[in-house]
Amino acid sequence: MKNLDRLFAPAFIFSLICACSSGGESTRPELPDPTVGGAGATGSENPDGTADPLTPGGPAGSGGSANGEGVNPDIPLTGNTAGGGNTAGSGNTAGSGGSGPTNDLPAFVAPTSPDPDIFTGAPQSLRQAGTLTERLIGTAVRANRLNNETYTTAAREFSYVTPENEMKWDALEREPGVFTFANGNRIVQFAEANHMLVKGHTLVWHSQIPAWVRAMTTRDEALTAMERHITEVVGHYKGRVHAWDVVNEAFTDGNNSRLRGADPNDVNDPNNSNGNNGPDSPFRRLIGEDYIDRAFTLARAADPDALLFYNDFNTEGTNAKANAVFNMVQSMKQRGVPIDGVGLQMHINASGGVTAQQLTQNIQRLTGLGLQVVFSELDVTLCGNADIAERRQQQKTRLAEVTKACTDNPLCTAITFWGIADNDSWRNSTCNGGGSEPLLFDTTYQRKDAYFGVFDTLVTAGAATP
Ligand code: G3I
Repeated sequence: MKNLDRLFAPAFIFSLICACSSGGESTRPELPDPTVGGAGATGSENPDGTADPLTPGGPAGSGGSANGEGVNPDIPLTGNTAGGGNTAGSGNTAGSGGSGPTNDLPAFVAPTSPDPDIFTGAPQSLRQAGTLTERLIGTAVRANRLNNETYTTAAREFSYVTPENEMKWDALEREPGVFTFANGNRIVQFAEANHMLVKGHTLVWHSQIPAWVRAMTTRDEALTAMERHITEVVGHYKGRVHAWDVVNEAFTDGNNSRLRGADPNDVNDPNNSNGNNGPDSPFRRLIGEDYIDRAFTLARAADPDALLFYNDFNTEGTNAKANAVFNMVQSMKQRGVPIDGVGLQMHINASGGVTAQQLTQNIQRLTGLGLQVVFSELDVTLCGNADIAERRQQQKTRLAEVTKACTDNPLCTAITFWGIADNDSWRNSTCNGGGSEPLLFDTTYQRKDAYFGVFDTLVTAGAATP
């Protein structure tokens, strides 16, 4: 039996029954086709090995119930506190202009499929390999892809989802006080139907904000807007979203990393990074440095059980920006600001960049503050001059080493990839005449070597997990 309680805030107590093999096998078992839905469940009740455990609606898994909740009432997927946690309507600001019934988040419905994390035998998916070592394995998803069965079947490899764009400010509150939750709701419902948790992304960010937010001119306006946004959004998803990226990418790059918007020369244009000054944050510029403390406090008040993260990129190691983030979260902890963890985005490359040792050091100092660390947007591009086969091998090795850096630390609790297949990736730009191939599945949703860099490392770590 594995127990993931430590990953969760109280309402998300997540006891995970796992009669699974911890994977010391010398040869990897054949995995089911990630693009083919089928009946079935893993483990001893599926002796013929023909079933696809990724498809909901198949017969019960090793837990012996058609519904994992029947076996273990503490199963997380609900993220629901008692009573169903349906906060439908909370996000519809009265008089806001009729965002309509699709804004209501339907009440939580327990999934009818077996819980894939209850299994015997060898793991058959990334999430099952993650279960062995008590980690959530996540992916970014897009609402407009959820009607594609190949996509959703592959998505069931994961136990954790982050909406790629659907919970950003410009998606949720395009006009002041008018909230549009339909796409975010679809992702939450998809996750719940498939025993997955949701990470909300992101409440306060200088990018992907509507023009009216960028046009604000006073502190009062910005405070009012930020308070309404956080309260409405977190309130809407209360009990249904496990964790939030509360503040995203607040720091500038470079050797003098500091909060964006702290310098009047910062550029009021999200698409222009302009050297060290970088894009402006209207929140820092108008509210002041305490906008971050305030954002976390508002989020905690709106859902006391959601985990609250600070999230940033190029902060994986021990450079000036990573140090600035560390200093900030250390101060927040010392002052009692409600923060639970730090997301290291991990948009990295197959060679160069942060070393495994630097990553390990950073994870250690952050978790030393009592914070969780998650890899929140992992992808690994393989641009370079070496032969493509060599670069793919480098990518696999890189993924194995960063996965190990996480599984080596008990407070590194989740690894989320920024998409499923290469062609879904925001980073799949052309390099050396080919794509940068940053993700774990190829363009036909077949598992790549990169996948096994992660899978095998999780299985090995699981074998060492008591
Ligand atoms: O919303 C419009 C839509 O109306 C229009 O039809 C469509 C046409 O191309 O564009 C849509 O907007 C795009 C949006 O994604 C939603 O699909 C934007 O052009 C596009 O720039 C945007 O890209 C996103 C990017 O953030 C923007 O910063 C990527 O999908 C998303 O993967 C990426 O994610 C961020 C994380 O949130 C934070 N960390 C870094 C990462 C990359 O910036």
